[in-house]
Amino acid sequence: MATITDLPCELVYYIIFLLVQSSGGAADFARIISVCRDFHLYVDDVSILRVANFNMKMESVNFYNFLNVKGLLVKCSEAGNAAAQHVLGKVILLSSTHLLLSEGKRKVSGVIDPCDRLKLNRLIRDINVPAQNSKVSSFMSYFSPLQVRTIDSPTRLVHHQLVKLFLINGNHDDFIEMGIFLRLCIRYLMSDPRENSALIFYITKVVSRACYNGYLAKVNESFSDCLRWVREFLEVHSDRRLYKVSGKYSCLRHLVMRKCLMAGLDLPEALSDVNFVDALRQEVSDQLGQSYIGLSNLRAVALDRFKDQFE
Ligand SMILES: *[C@@H]1O[C@H](CO)[C@@H](O)[C@H](O)[C@H]1NC(C)=O
Repeated sequence: MATITDLPCELVYYIIFLLVQSSGGAADFARIISVCRDFHLYVDDVSILRVANFNMKMESVNFYNFLNVKGLLVKCSEAGNAAAQHVLGKVILLSSTHLLLSEGKRKVSGVIDPCDRLKLNRLIRDINVPAQNSKVSSFMSYFSPLQVRTIDSPTRLVHHQLVKLFLINGNHDDFIEMGIFLRLCIRYLMSDPRENSALIFYITKVVSRACYNGYLAKVNESFSDCLRWVREFLEVHSDRRLYKVSGKYSCLRHLVMRKCLMAGLDLPEALSDVNFVDALRQEVSDQLGQSYIGLSNLRAVALDRFKDQFE
């Protein structure tokens, strides 16, 4: 029976080249090389490694599975694959957090809010497993500046470089997903966090701005749905002290109420006025635009501090 490996080499190469760029990307590639030795040929092919797709959320994978310095994620990152470097950055954030917690530097845990606590517990699961601790720590040492300097390999990446790339390239969803890990990772990488508390301060600002940005982007994207929610909310709560009630889309609700107050308009009337709604829609979009600028300014300041600290 003929198999795929009977095909001309160029064709197999082309199939793999397409496969690694598909949505299953790197994961599918890892799967086929694990089942067929013939495909091992392609594991070191830089043109394939460079384009492999790593589109994944850390929530849906077990990050401990990536802790392999000979694995596809590290290979692709070293080949210059930006998507791989981005995921590897996340793995570094999680590994550092794991080490910070497992090495008992728990002083920091006092400042973690409940939502972040949930994320920590969901992703960092094995801090009490000694075998896992040494796996994480040897993985991290591969990226240590001291190690990399002695090896003098042009493609080797240093952990703070990967964190910097994450800081440069992350979008608001990345910061929402990884915010707590970013903060703890930086604490871990700095020998004495008190030395550069401005860095931690700006990182915290970037993360909270990203959350606000993500929220506004959602409101802007599904404006009509959000507004319907606000309208229904206001119908039900028409005579209460609304500022005290928080909940979904409360920012939009506050915006509506402020606009009405300032223009002396009646709430229900304003909400059924097309012009009012259009102006509101525009205002949300403008605020989102401002928020993107705010995020990129904060990011730039945080990056400067980051470079002061690590470069
Ligand atoms: C807000 O949403 C509108 C409509 O979907 C879109 O055209 C606009 O670019 C968005 N604003 C921003 C700042 O992204």
